[in-house]
Amino acid sequence: MAGPRTNSTGESLLVTLDRGSGEPLHRQLAAAVRDGVRSGRLRRGTTLPPTRRLAGELGVSRGVVVEAYQQLVAEGYLTSRTGGYTEVVAAPAAQRAAAAPATQPAPAVDFGYGRYDVANFPRAAWLRSIRRAYAQAPNERFGYLSGRGVPELHEALADYLNRVRGTAAFPDTIVISNGYAQGIALLAQVLAARGARRVAVEDPSADDDLRPMARTLGLEITGVPVDDDGIRTDAFDGLDADALVLTPTHQWPTGAVLSAQRRAAVLRWAAERGALVVEDDYDAEYRYDRSPVGAMQGLAPDLVAYSGTASKTLAPGLRLGWLVLPRSWVDEVAEAKLLADRGSPVLDQLAFADFLAHGEFDRHLRRMRPVYRRRRDVLLAALAAQLPELEPAGISAGLHLVTWLPADVDETALVAAAAHRGVRVNGVTPYRLSRAGRGGLIFGYSALNERAVADGVARLAAAFAELRRS
Ligand SMILES: Cc1ncc(COP(=O)(O)O)c(C=O)c1O
Repeated sequence: MAGPRTNSTGESLLVTLDRGSGEPLHRQLAAAVRDGVRSGRLRRGTTLPPTRRLAGELGVSRGVVVEAYQQLVAEGYLTSRTGGYTEVVAAPAAQRAAAAPATQPAPAVDFGYGRYDVANFPRAAWLRSIRRAYAQAPNERFGYLSGRGVPELHEALADYLNRVRGTAAFPDTIVISNGYAQGIALLAQVLAARGARRVAVEDPSADDDLRPMARTLGLEITGVPVDDDGIRTDAFDGLDADALVLTPTHQWPTGAVLSAQRRAAVLRWAAERGALVVEDDYDAEYRYDRSPVGAMQGLAPDLVAYSGTASKTLAPGLRLGWLVLPRSWVDEVAEAKLLADRGSPVLDQLAFADFLAHGEFDRHLRRMRPVYRRRRDVLLAALAAQLPELEPAGISAGLHLVTWLPADVDETALVAAAAHRGVRVNGVTPYRLSRAGRGGLIFGYSALNERAVADGVARLAAAFAELRRS
């Protein structure tokens, strides 16, 4: 029985016939369809146009098409289905020939940091926002926009960020991007265009967004060490950089909070040098047992480019992020955004604006905080009981924590031993520019239920004990 038809409905088919070649037309047509199937352009399940219509489109007699189709049915590429339509049944040659790809077994417990609990995406409330957005958006929102995004979202974000994060944001200083990854890429492009040579980052820090982009742009990256109070401003002496990118509210990955004195020192350094501070506020919405820490941008809106993302609060797949910029940066960043992709998709921006304005974002966060807090508590309790030698840090906020390792335990060996026992956990050292420093493990816990967390720690404890014995 034919399954549900999900592929093309066979309205039309692009084929060019060469009438001067001497090759019979039905053979040319059969060859073109055969090539299409082999190359994968015509996928299995694709419905071809009825013979009469295709003959009309190609300006040939119907018999030419019938003959070509019959030939390909005989060869096993096509089949005739009830209802009189003709469908592709063969897979492309390469696909048929390829052996089943070797797949790595998925870890039994994955503490990978980049995982996020997408099962909790607030579908019903988001759908309501999408409906309202569709119904209420003025027609002009569906045309080309400025590179900054939709005004409704600028307004809603400025209200939200000023209320909850203590920013000094104005709607006209906000640029919407496809997540932090694009936001930092746009800033790096504008920095490079302005003649910047070097960007300072925390050491350790994420290695998958700014660093590769800086390499492409010819910007040098320099690391500044981090300790329990965040980036070490005593290491700023002689720091020759045009920008400093940091995660002051919850340093990634160590979880340190930048102290008030150091915030002031960062801003002094930036003011003296005329450098830009980029504040990556990636997971500030989740805090459990410490008082809220406001954004640095609120202290110095002319020095700080603030960056937020929906990746940790709603879903990374939305690709929604926002920059609150010093006024003198807005136009150039918006131009870079236009050049990159002519602006982020409008509908999600309008839906998010509605979601914020109706208080749904606050409600969602209120619902999620206790969930993640419980997962963190289970993780901490399991670590304390089974791996007391590991020293947790950065636990009071965010969706991950770090545990520092005893000096005599090799991080790489422990990560490998954990993998052997079915646990994926990342080490801190690969994120260090210096490649030196205390060994540690990064535990992402947001996507794991409490039983998986306990199972993961038990497996890790077994790996740790094994390593100790060897
Ligand atoms: C340090 C840091 N900043 C920002 C982000 C968010 O990136 P994006 O908004 O591109 O998903 C992440 C995500 O994992 C992160 O680790």
